[in-house]
Amino acid sequence: MDLKVKRGEPLKQKTPCLVLSALEGKLRTPLLKELDQVLDGALTRAVRDKEFSGKQKETLLLHPGKRLPAERVLLVGLGKEKGAGLERLRQAAGTAANFLQNRKVTSFVFDLPSLPLRRISPQDLAHGITEGITLASYRFDRYRTEKREELPPQLQESWLLVDKQAQVNDMEQGIARALAICRGVMLARDLVNMPGNVKSPDFLAQQARAIAEETGLKCTVLEQKELEEEGLGAMLGVAQGSVREPRLIILEYRGGNSDARPVALIGKGVVFDAGGISLKPAEKMDEMKMDMGGGATVLGTMLAASLLKLPVNLVGIVPAVENLPSGSAIRPGDILTSLSGRTIEVLNTDAEGRLILADALTYAKRFDPRVAIDLATLTGACVIALGHHATAILGNHEGLIRQLISAGEQTGERLWQLPLWEDYAAQIKSDIADLKNIGGRPAGTITAAAFLQKFAEEFTWAHLDIAGTAWEEKGRPYTPKGGTGVGVRLLVHYLRQSMPPRS
Ligand code: BES
Ligand code: MN
Ligand code: ZN
Repeated sequence: MDLKVKRGEPLKQKTPCLVLSALEGKLRTPLLKELDQVLDGALTRAVRDKEFSGKQKETLLLHPGKRLPAERVLLVGLGKEKGAGLERLRQAAGTAANFLQNRKVTSFVFDLPSLPLRRISPQDLAHGITEGITLASYRFDRYRTEKREELPPQLQESWLLVDKQAQVNDMEQGIARALAICRGVMLARDLVNMPGNVKSPDFLAQQARAIAEETGLKCTVLEQKELEEEGLGAMLGVAQGSVREPRLIILEYRGGNSDARPVALIGKGVVFDAGGISLKPAEKMDEMKMDMGGGATVLGTMLAASLLKLPVNLVGIVPAVENLPSGSAIRPGDILTSLSGRTIEVLNTDAEGRLILADALTYAKRFDPRVAIDLATLTGACVIALGHHATAILGNHEGLIRQLISAGEQTGERLWQLPLWEDYAAQIKSDIADLKNIGGRPAGTITAAAFLQKFAEEFTWAHLDIAGTAWEEKGRPYTPKGGTGVGVRLLVHYLRQSMPPRS
């Protein structure tokens, strides 16, 4: 879809739809009063009949006929004045885009000066609206072959309307920035939504190569034999139950000083998690195609960062495997030797994410990262603790955690910290090996992180458990059902804020 900026007056716009926004209970702004007058009190009557009050996610569609050049006027609620900010704006823009797309209205004008969000810069306003519209109109419909004409059409073009010519440039920059980030988010969503039969570990590697091809990133892929030679025993252990061979995918982006230490992003890439011999129940097992959500986010972030030319060095590492039960699978009780040399007693083959991440974290040491951040759909316990409204964050550096939490607040991808006290490590001590891969029922998200911490000792490190946020079950204003691409916007924001200035 095309997103453009122009200067003009809202009520003079000739467009299939003029989109206006309103705060809850604040419907007597100069613009809305004028609209009401022109429409002979239509807004007053709608408010009187309780059809619209400006609540969050509320919409009101008006047909002005010959009274306005616009064919339709769509009012969208921003909710209460208190707390109205970028996230509400993304949601309102997403709500409007969904509403119009479902009614096959594919072109509209979104009025910005009427937005009652004074403290946000023009760039950020344009950025927020662009994200809201673009991410709301995302669809994963490539496998629908029948009745494609019934699918909601792609949005064609939307205009952001401003009143000052001076803002046009800033807005255009905000749009361009947001579109680059959205490409990363949508790549991540596509990869998560793809079925397990299509996305083998090697398929993910090919996707990484394609990103590298487009953007000039360096891509290295370690195959079975190299993984054996290097000794990634924990990762290989997980992979051995599947006929589809594992891949360790490494993408390198160099936008910073040649001597600047990189940020390492590490993403769990289990293309399907059946649990292995510790088999999962059948119900909703299909959703475990999303168990590469962390890896998808790393690939999406690498793409966005290079499109944006962020002045930072990055390395993205995705251990890609499939966790299946079979005659060649590891069994409960097996002991694996990880790349770090530490031995791990595998008491539950379904706790596979931490095994592959252990080796990926150890592998990351070669890049001497300044910061390491891993993302993983790691524990069901995280969904129990936080539900679907926040990603859990744990780590060994409060400063890094605070920066990420703040990036989460800015982007609407919220994080909530869980403690990682030394006491929890007792739960993952093995009687006969260095570690065991499960810590019992209490604090499952924390003991999984405590396990990872053993492999991140040399880093400034944070772990994001996205088990509850990588997949959307119901659909939210700018997050349709399915893969969410969570973490891409968060990480890009973090990287933009945390960059040491280029000298
Ligand atoms: N991929 C799952 C975690 C998961 C569960 C992600 C639900 C998203 C939604 C992970 O590999 C797993 O199976 N974890 C086990 C660990 C347990 C055996 C210690 C779990 O959470 O049950
Ligand atoms: Mn599992
Ligand atoms: Zn898993």
